[in-house]
Amino acid sequence: MYTLIDGKLLAAEMRGELKEKTQLFEKERGRKVGLAVVLAGDNPASQVYVRNKIKACDEVGIKSFAVYLPQNVTQSVLEQAVKELVSNCAVDGVLVQLPLPEHIDAESVLKLIPAEKDVDGFSAENTGKLLLNEQSLVACTPHGVMKMLEKYKIDTKGKRAVVLGRSNIVGKPMAVLLLNADATVTVCHSKTQNLKEECLRADIIVSAIGKPKFLTADMVKEGAAVIDVGMNRDEAGKLCGDVDFDKVKEKCSYITPVPGGVGPMTITMLMYNAYYAAVRSKT
Ligand code: GUN
Repeated sequence: MYTLIDGKLLAAEMRGELKEKTQLFEKERGRKVGLAVVLAGDNPASQVYVRNKIKACDEVGIKSFAVYLPQNVTQSVLEQAVKELVSNCAVDGVLVQLPLPEHIDAESVLKLIPAEKDVDGFSAENTGKLLLNEQSLVACTPHGVMKMLEKYKIDTKGKRAVVLGRSNIVGKPMAVLLLNADATVTVCHSKTQNLKEECLRADIIVSAIGKPKFLTADMVKEGAAVIDVGMNRDEAGKLCGDVDFDKVKEKCSYITPVPGGVGPMTITMLMYNAYYAAVRSKT
């Protein structure tokens, strides 16, 4: 029998706690926590994510600053918008939704966000601090996964963890967080040989590769915990994760659904990061 990790419920609980914290912040500092979200272009998935981020801000009492720019925005207009948000003392965190339109140099845009307002945890400084196991703003998705493991008391100490995917946003920070939590971590990617054997050894699998139903039951050890970061569409256009959920769940001790698993936790950790940045700000 498996336990379903209810990300939606966990996120709702955490947002309730966060709302109390942001109210206290407002009382003490005479202003709200502020989070800016920049969306450039018309990527439909990004539009949904940004809408959900703004909605979550309202829910937890964070003031949102949304900036929408067209698909053909120039580098300089986008950079100017980010610069203005960064220098606004009512804005504690700035997030630029990725991916940016192809003609934009995303790295130059992201570099404009100082570490203390980098609520995505993407900057070199925050990434470096994570590696050194120092307090920092941690990338929201892997941070949310760690919260899920903690809340469901899934032991990481000395356990074999396999991370599928090596992106800067999810795979790499996920591996570091698991390592910091005393797991024995293997990162698998498109060039990995014997991927099935690597997965079969794992007590915990975190999949973030973006391939629908990639992780099948024959790749999972009996009793493993499986966390699905994937957000894909199947042949019928239905939202699905990286995990062949219906078959894999029968072998698991714990498993996350898609939707209703990691997704709501990612946004909750963004709210948490904005609050964390606000508490540390001087304004
Ligand atoms: N696009 C997909 N995931 C993310 C994320 O966590 N942050 C940003 N800024 N863009 C994304």
